Amino acid sequence: MKVLVTGGAGFIGSNFVHRTLATRPDAEVTVLDALTYAGSTTSLDGVLERIRFVEGDVADAEVVDPLVAGSDVVVHFAAESHNDNSLADPSPFIRTNLVGTFTLLEAARKHDVRYHHVSTDEVYGDLELDDPKKFTEDTPYTPSSPYSASKAGSDHLVRAWVRSFGLRATLSNCSNNYGPRQHVEKFIPRQVTNVLDGVRPKLYGDGLNVRDWIHVDDHNDAVWTVVERGRAGETYLIGANGEMNNRDVIALILELMGQEPDAYDHVTDRAGHDRRYAIEAGKLRQELGWTPRYETFRDGLAATIDWYREHEEWWRPAKETTEAKYARTQQVLAR
Ligand code: NAD
Ligand code: DAU
Repeated sequence: MKVLVTGGAGFIGSNFVHRTLATRPDAEVTVLDALTYAGSTTSLDGVLERIRFVEGDVADAEVVDPLVAGSDVVVHFAAESHNDNSLADPSPFIRTNLVGTFTLLEAARKHDVRYHHVSTDEVYGDLELDDPKKFTEDTPYTPSSPYSASKAGSDHLVRAWVRSFGLRATLSNCSNNYGPRQHVEKFIPRQVTNVLDGVRPKLYGDGLNVRDWIHVDDHNDAVWTVVERGRAGETYLIGANGEMNNRDVIALILELMGQEPDAYDHVTDRAGHDRRYAIEAGKLRQELGWTPRYETFRDGLAATIDWYREHEEWWRPAKETTEAKYARTQQVLAR
């Protein structure tokens, strides 16, 4: 199978490539990635020689068209992915997440290529902490941030191309991923690398916001399950019952790294900060038979901390600029 992976030099996409080559030796993988601040070919170390890597923009039809034409399936990960960045400057989110998806859809329609769209649970807005409900495939879309609104728009484009043009497409909406090769701007890698640097972790607001954590390999196995067995036009939610509030995540990181569990600082909250995400993944489990492999968040988190300890050369180049960006954001929020 010839697989075109967009965003394959980013966090989830690069893990998808590693996992695909490990589990599907006959797959021919092409990665299309613009190598923004969030992408690096070092995330493909060890597999780069077994794939075709194309540096390019998913919103550039001249690049996209021949790559899609030569593929059996497109798995679309490429995106601007960070909420804080979308609050500082939404414009790249509109171009990559909306125009980029549109460009891929047009190519997939023209060449009748199977398309899988990787999306987020954030399209469903947020839940109250005490709400007994979780997100399902029927939850109405109410995105909060420019990032989640751009992903919601891209999901709607995919559904319109299925209905109006008969595109052979599936969608998946997943909760918060953790694991190796995640950019140091994101919550878990930021705090782990802060502790490694002797800096106290930073908790937004009261820290009671809940995220539904899933290991990136479990997400990617679910994506393959949907690519291989999902019904065209259908959406599948991906989650592993991993709800935990941010305070407890920080306390666990600190404990696993041999620090006092309260050795962190509260900082000004993110604007519009979603309170809680929670996924009901029954459709994926019952219809397609997927189950997560990582049994406890604690074990997956400990392995992730070890990965950052052992791969300073991977995260160090981005650390200083990321923290400088956060310092500027805090100054703006404090005004
Ligand atoms: P990431 O920011 O780590 O990686 C994004 C990748 O896309 C980078 O390699 C970047 O260079 C590339 N890219 C950005 N703009 C591009 C463009 N115009 N053309 C080509 N490549 C471009 O993101 P991630 O966390 O790996 O997320 C991947 C996908 O999964 C996104 O679509 C995101 O919305 C979705 N998702 C992420 C999570 C999560 O927890 N991180 C959860 C659910 C869904
Ligand atoms: O739910 C899926 C989404 O998860 C994906 O679509 C996004 O691409 C991905 O970035 C992630 O979004 P979040 O905004 O939930 O992730 P982030 O890592 O930025 O933050 C997780 C939580 O931690 C959130 O409640 C904000 C908080 N936080 C974050 C940072 C960076 C802090 O308390 N301190 C921090 O320094």
